[in-house]
Amino acid sequence: MPNLNINNFRVLQGFLTRQEQAQIVADISKLVQKAPLYRPSMPRTGKPFSVRMSNLGKLGWVSDKTGYRYQKTHPETGQEWPEIPDTLQAIWRAVAEFGQPAEACLVNYYDISAKMGMHRDEDEVNFSAPVVSISLGDTAIFRMGGATRKGPTQSVKLESGDVVVIGGPARLFYHGVDRILGGSSNLLKGGGRLNLTLRRVG
Ligand code: SIN
Ligand code: MN
Repeated sequence: MPNLNINNFRVLQGFLTRQEQAQIVADISKLVQKAPLYRPSMPRTGKPFSVRMSNLGKLGWVSDKTGYRYQKTHPETGQEWPEIPDTLQAIWRAVAEFGQPAEACLVNYYDISAKMGMHRDEDEVNFSAPVVSISLGDTAIFRMGGATRKGPTQSVKLESGDVVVIGGPARLFYHGVDRILGGSSNLLKGGGRLNLTLRRVG
């Protein structure tokens, strides 16, 4: 049962068992050897992100001085992104209530000092599918806002194994990560937090 539901921003607390979490971490560790985590930069300013990123799937979300976009290849290696493993597609099938598989999976790695400013996921073409977000490792203090940058926000703790489904009106709501609680999980060898967001692009 979701323990929080704000306009179809649904937090499924403890959705993944420890064993399932460990399996996903093992799968991702292998895949990021092929598509290494890199540090994107902000449009215009070129300021580096504190979060390191990679992608899986036909399309991957990237950011650089020229803007945000989806593209088929890793910006540093020039290689296509690895496929999304079935461990992740199975989660999408279980919670997304969408007839087609996820097309893109953004892999975000937060060290304990990383954060992510308030933003909307709006670079997709079609917003009828939800974004499904998987939290692994250290707890995040996540901030959920509304349809405008200004309105009220709510702080939500996302722990290892929590799955968030962001659909309906909430699909285009502002959100961000205020901070990571270092040492709150021993799932990842080097500490920190791995967040995987499964998306449809087209
Ligand atoms: C994101 O908005 O891409 C990441 C959200 C999160 O790390 O929980
Ligand atoms: Mn986002």
